[in-house]
This record gives sequence, C-alpha cells and structure tokens, in this order.
Amino acid sequence: MREGQNAVIYRADYQPPPYWIDTVELVFDLDPAKTRVLNRMRVRRNPEAAAQALKLDGEDLNLARVLVNGQGTSFKLDDGRLVLENLPEGNEPFELEIFTTCAPAKNTQLMGLYVSNGSFFTQCEAEGFRRITYFLDRPDVMASYTVTLRADKRLYPVLLSNGNRVASGDLDDGRHYARWVDPHRKPCYLFALVAGQLVCREQKVRSRGGKEHLLQVYVRPGDLDKTEHAMNSLMASVAWDEARFGLALDLERFMIVATSDFNMGAMENKGLNIFNTKYVLASQATATDTDFANIESVVGHEYFHNWTGNRITCRDWFQLSLKEGLTVFRDQEFSQDLAGEASARAVKRIEDVRVLRTAQFPEDAGPMAHPVRPDQYLEINNFYTVTIYEKGAEVVRMMQTLVGREGFARGLKLYFERHDGQAVTCDEFAQAIADANPQSRLHELLPQFKRWYSQAGTPRVKATGQWDAGTGTYRLALSQSCPPTPGQADKQPFVIPVAWGLLGPDGRELAHGLHVLTQPGETLAVEGLAAEPVPSILRGFSAPVILEFDYTDAQLLVLLAHDTDPFNRWEAGQRLAVNRALAAIRGGGAVHLDVPFIDAMRSILRHPALDAAFKELVLTLPAEAYIAEQLDVVDPQRVHAVREAMREQLASALLHDWAWAFEAHKDSGAYRPDPVSAGRRALAGLALTHLCIAARKTNDPVWPGKAYQRFKDASNMTDRFNALSALVVSGHELARPALERFHAIFRDEPLVLDKWFALQAGAPDRGGNILPAVRQLMQHPDFNIRNPNRARSLVFSYCSANPGAFHRPDAAGYVFWSERVIELDAINPQVASRLARALDRWRKLAEPQRSGAREAIARVAAKPDLSNDVREVVTRALAE
Ligand code: BES
Ligand code: ZN
Repeated sequence: MREGQNAVIYRADYQPPPYWIDTVELVFDLDPAKTRVLNRMRVRRNPEAAAQALKLDGEDLNLARVLVNGQGTSFKLDDGRLVLENLPEGNEPFELEIFTTCAPAKNTQLMGLYVSNGSFFTQCEAEGFRRITYFLDRPDVMASYTVTLRADKRLYPVLLSNGNRVASGDLDDGRHYARWVDPHRKPCYLFALVAGQLVCREQKVRSRGGKEHLLQVYVRPGDLDKTEHAMNSLMASVAWDEARFGLALDLERFMIVATSDFNMGAMENKGLNIFNTKYVLASQATATDTDFANIESVVGHEYFHNWTGNRITCRDWFQLSLKEGLTVFRDQEFSQDLAGEASARAVKRIEDVRVLRTAQFPEDAGPMAHPVRPDQYLEINNFYTVTIYEKGAEVVRMMQTLVGREGFARGLKLYFERHDGQAVTCDEFAQAIADANPQSRLHELLPQFKRWYSQAGTPRVKATGQWDAGTGTYRLALSQSCPPTPGQADKQPFVIPVAWGLLGPDGRELAHGLHVLTQPGETLAVEGLAAEPVPSILRGFSAPVILEFDYTDAQLLVLLAHDTDPFNRWEAGQRLAVNRALAAIRGGGAVHLDVPFIDAMRSILRHPALDAAFKELVLTLPAEAYIAEQLDVVDPQRVHAVREAMREQLASALLHDWAWAFEAHKDSGAYRPDPVSAGRRALAGLALTHLCIAARKTNDPVWPGKAYQRFKDASNMTDRFNALSALVVSGHELARPALERFHAIFRDEPLVLDKWFALQAGAPDRGGNILPAVRQLMQHPDFNIRNPNRARSLVFSYCSANPGAFHRPDAAGYVFWSERVIELDAINPQVASRLARALDRWRKLAEPQRSGAREAIARVAAKPDLSNDVREVVTRALAE
C-alpha cells in the first residue's frame, strides 16, 4: 500500500491549526490481526483561524463510525484524510467520536501500532499517530490523554501507556484491561502504548525536592540481567539534569521499554520511552565498551527530551532541531560531565567531532544538504539527519561558547519560564538564550548568528599567519566563505567563534583567546612575542567549519607534541596523516611514511602521561570517508588502498611499540565500562590489530595465534570482539574458525549476531571478496531483512560503511544496493531511504564508478510506486 504522491511542504506555509483538540480518550481492543480503536475527542474551533472544515490525518485505517456529539454525521475521505464539513457552529467544544480498526501484525513499516516478537509497540514520531487513529497529527496540537488498553491477559500480561495507571482488572474471555491517564498535555507524536509479556527492573529515586519517582526498565523475560547499566544510566540522567540545569523529573513513573524491531535508536514518548534493544541491553559478555557508552548517552538523550522536546515542543517539524540539536548537545555534555577528567572529556569531544566531520560535512556538501532549520521537505522522515542533530548541537554549543556555561544555564531557565507547555520555534529558543545574556556577543549578534539556522553548507575559514620579527607581532588573518548548496547560491557571513592559542617553538603556550569572526575577513594581532609562534586555531572545534591553514610538518609536529588543547593536539596528528594520504592518492605511486611522522606517532604511543583512550584516537588513521571529503574526485578503492598501506607501515614500523602497548594495556582489571579501563582496552585492541597486520606480511604466526587465544579466553565482549576483528581485518586464516566459534557461542544473542554480520560486511576488501560474502550471508538462516538492526548490520555495513568494497569498478556493489533499496522500500520505507543515501555523493566518484552509480540511482528512480521517502532521496541525488 502506498500513500499518494505527496507534494512538497514549505515552512513559509505554516498556519495555526483550525481546531484544537483538548482531550482524547482512546480505547484499544488489542489484536494482532485487527485492533479496534475508539477515539473520543473534545474538539473546538481555533478562534484565531479562519472557519474551515476539519481535516483529520489518517493512513492505513479502516473507518467504521464517526459521531459528533453522539450523532451520526456526514464525512468525506480525501486522500486518506477524514473531512468533516458539517460541524457545530460557534466556538463551543463538541465531542467527536471515531471508531477505526488497523492491522498491527501487517505493519512492517514499524510506524504506528505494530507487533514485535508477539508484543505490541507504537512509534508515532513524526507522523505515525495517524496510522492509529484519525487526528490532527501535528506537534502544535496538544491534548490530555486517557488510554484504556484491553487484551488477552495470558498473551499480554503487561499493558502500558503514558502517565499513571489509574485502573486495571479482569474482563470476560480471559481478557483484562488497564487505564492510563497522562497528567501532562502532549502532542500526539509523544503517545505510546506497549502490551506483551515483559518483565521489569525497578528503582525508586528521590529528587532534590523530596519527591519520589518509580523508574522501570521493561524487557523480554530472558533479558533482565542485561538491564543494570540502562537503569544506572537513567538514574545518572535524572540526577544530572537536576544538578546542571535545575530540571527535575515531572512524573511519578518513568518507564523504558526495549524492542528488537525499531527503526531508530530510541523514542522519548512521555513517561514511556521505547528503545531499540541495542541501546538498553548490556552485559560484559555481550556488549562492548562502545555499546555501554552508547546506552548511557541514548538513555540520557531520551530522558533529557522530557524537558527539551516534551515540556517545550516544536511548533512544526521544520523546527525539529529545536528539540534534537538541543538534546544532542545536552547528551554530549552529560557524557562529558560523567567522564570527569579533562582528558576523558576531550576524548568524547573528539569522538563527537569525528561523527560530525565524517557524516555531516558530506551531507552538507551533497544533494541532501539542508539548513539546520529546513525550508521544505517532501517526507519529514528524511530530515532526521546529522545536520538537524549534530550540526544543530554545534549551533547550541556555539551559543554556550558565546554566553559562557553559566550564561547558557540562565538562558535555558528563561526559555522554560517563557515557553513551558508551548510548541515553539528555533527563533524563540535563540532569543531566550540571548535575552538572558544581554551583555553577550550572542545578544549583540543574534540576527547574524541565526544564519546558522537558515544557511546550509559547511563554512570554510581560511587562516594565514604573518610574523613581523621587527615588532614581535604575529598576525592571524581569518577569512570565511561558504559554498553554494541546493537552492542557496549565495551565503552571508556567519558568526564564527574561533578559540585560538599560540605556542612557542619549544611548545610553551604564549597566548590564547576567543575571536568572534563576523566579517568576510578579519585579522587578529598578538604583540610582544620573542619568536614566530605556532598557531593553534579552532581549539576544541569551537565552530562547525573547515579550517584551512597551510601548516608545515614542523608546525604540526609541535602541536602534536605540545598543544595544551587536546582536540588540536589530536587534530595535528590527523592533518599529518591526511596530508600523507592525499599526497599518495594524488601522486599515484607507492606509499612511504617518513621517519618524522612515524617517530611522532611512536612518541604519542609511548608517552608516559597521556591517556590510553587519547592515544588510541591519535593512532587511528583518518577514516576513508574523511579522506575522500578532501578530494574533488574520489576513487574509493584508491583511498582504501592508500589507507591500508599506511596502516601496514605503521604496523611494521612500530612493531615493538605495538607489542609493548598490547602487553602494557591488555589487562584492565575486573570489567568496568568506565572511560579509563575502556581506553586501555581500546588501545590494546588497536595494538593487536596492527600486530596481526604486520604478521600478515611476514607470515609470522605468533600474533595471530595470540589473537585467537585472546578471542577464546576473553572475559568481556570488548576484548573478544577486538581480537576477532584483528583476525578478520588482517585477513588471517584463523578468522574463519574464530567467526564460526563466535557464531556458535552467541547464536541466541541477536545483538551479538548483528556484530557478527557487520564485521564480515565491513571487512577490508581483498580482490572483490566482500560482495559475494555479503550475498551469501543474505542467505544465512539468521539473516532477516525485515528486522532493521539485522538489515543495518549486513546491508548498511557493506553499502554505507565499507567504501573500498562497495565502490567496485564493475558496479556490482551498486546493483546490490539498488536491489536492496527496492526490496526494503516495499517493507519499510524509512529504512530503505536511509540506505538510498549511501550513494548521495556519486557525483564525486571517479569513472567508471560515477556512471555505474548514476545508472543504479536512475534504475531505482524509474521504479513506479516508490515511497515518498526513497523518491525524495533519489530525485535529489539526480537533480542538477
Ligand atoms: N525523537 C527521536 C527518535 C525518532 C527519530 C523518532 C526519528 C522518529 C523519527 C529520538 O529522540 C532520537 O533522536 N533518537 C536517536 C538517538 C539519539 C541518541 C540521537 C535515534 O533514534 O537515532
Ligand atoms: Zn532526540
């Protein structure tokens, strides 16, 4: 079933809703084949809007009955919408009762009400509520909900919805019911229900004001032993939001429920968060340190939405970053604050910037580029993007930089004073932060600052240094520009906070400051210097821009050895590596890493004072996707080959150092996922990978043997998986038995099987071997394309995360991609359209890949009956 070929929606067309819905009473008779939904609403005309018919959104519903004030009424169905023209006159509320049915078991899109493993779940953001009942499915219509769930008691013993349970009991025929009342008004995208065989971990907590709250984490019966970390993360989130921003939990009961069929990571439904199992379940045997860290931040993220998103929500979906950018910023800050030490905070910052630069920068330079607050969309699901999320978070971070940490907390307080309970816009957020800080640069520059919301594209800041030995003055000239993006040819200058420092030739810090760049070009000068300094620019990545500065190797080596800003210290190492990669790619010859570079890497690896986690980041070469971004024309296989060659040289040249690093870090004590021990495991894992890579060239069996031993004996998933990965990545023959053994041990652990699929699909290509392996794994009894996690682990790991294997000159990777996009589109358009984006940057590809990719996209685009989701992505990809 396909929705009609919808038209583009424009932000400028926003109109307030013509009706308000004040209360909603829902009664569900849950049945997988045919669920009955009775929806009784109190509706009134919005006196501020012109008189017009009431048009309720609906999708895939069977309509049985419509009553107005208890009486039958005339209605029309128009392109899925229910149109009521003969409603009572005047502004008095009336009762509208709608009776529909839907088929949750057939709902493979996982939007609206669906069945997963025999339990019922809902997903309503952005526009899924219309698949449950007819409604004004838009975030600025906020109502009070009372929900009654009725279902077979044996099959569905647990019945949950938002708010508090006010009644429950048995019905005839083995059925039972529960009634839930949500004390908070909410937009319908925050509605949720869950029904099934679930068990929960419970925890009572007391907030600072003395109120008691019940926290619950619901999972399938066998998974209770994997919920401790999620519960700890939830408790930490509750405490943090109160301590840092004075935002207390406003509910008696806060529930998290895990499901293994979920399109996204997790969802912040009021008081009833629904999570992908991936971001709830963890034990040391099944989850890696990365999984533990992700759980902490996703639990935090959804919990923080309770204020930034739920108490104050979005007026319309163009304002999505109002809640998502802000809440990503908050979850990043949460993870940094929990990490504690300055160096651990920096590690988190580097990881966040890495995501921004490898995913958001390409988006901003490609056909799907859009501003943080978009002006138009065809399908809103396509706009849950790294731009809305990650760039949006950077915009909030720049505000904090401009008003200070305390000023930002003040701003947030004013935002809640002004807008609690409202549906607002990004303008109102920025205004509140600025107004709470009237003396700040943000307040002074607000209209210009807001260009970050309206202009797409990644700004470039070009810096040049000039040393005047006579006067001891160093001048740093900064200029900014921003390339055109679809629909935006010319850009106005941005407000760019540039944190900077100057280091002496010996590495000592001489000066530092924050320069707010507002003009196309400006120069800052520092006087009284004895010798030419080395500039450390854009410290902490103080703005989401591309910084161009013609650093010499000597300057970068000083920064890598001495910069007091850990971000730029790491960045210096990345620049050294990227420069070498680019020279080799452009030069076309063999890769030869020079001694100064190798020595600098060795010094970091052997450094007595640096954290293992930081060392691991410095010694990890820039991702292929990041290197590709620096090129105008990309041959992904060449990029891959060069990066692999660099890695081999780092492996051999530092052989003894890697061996030392492995031995020195391999034991991190009893398993705890804290940043220090996780950092030790990460560095030991990186060392082992390099040792196996080096052994491959020399045919030395010792390190692969040790890796296999560690794989077998490991007491936690991080060490076990890193050892397995070292064997797979180095292409050693022990990889085969290790993979088989891994599968045998974890055959009943779906999240671990996802890792097993992902590792094979993401492995380095050797003579085109990955695609056949992926095709074969599609036939594996454990593969199921309908499960989004499994589809991501195999299909996305190959198409989106393994460029060297995917971009085959024979275009077979693209053929595979087009087959899967079309196959998935019939099942789940949201997942299909994310996969469709794997070829976003086809125009940058070298031939023959470029033509092959274009043909594959055209093949998908030519298919009649595409979802809006996929159609929007492929049409934009092909647009000139
Ligand atoms: N509100 C979103 C979930 C969502 C996204 C629902 C898109 C419907 C469509 C939620 O708060 C969210 O942002 N989840 C992220 C994880 C988060 C830690 C960034 C996700 O699901 O990827
Ligand atoms: Zn979110």
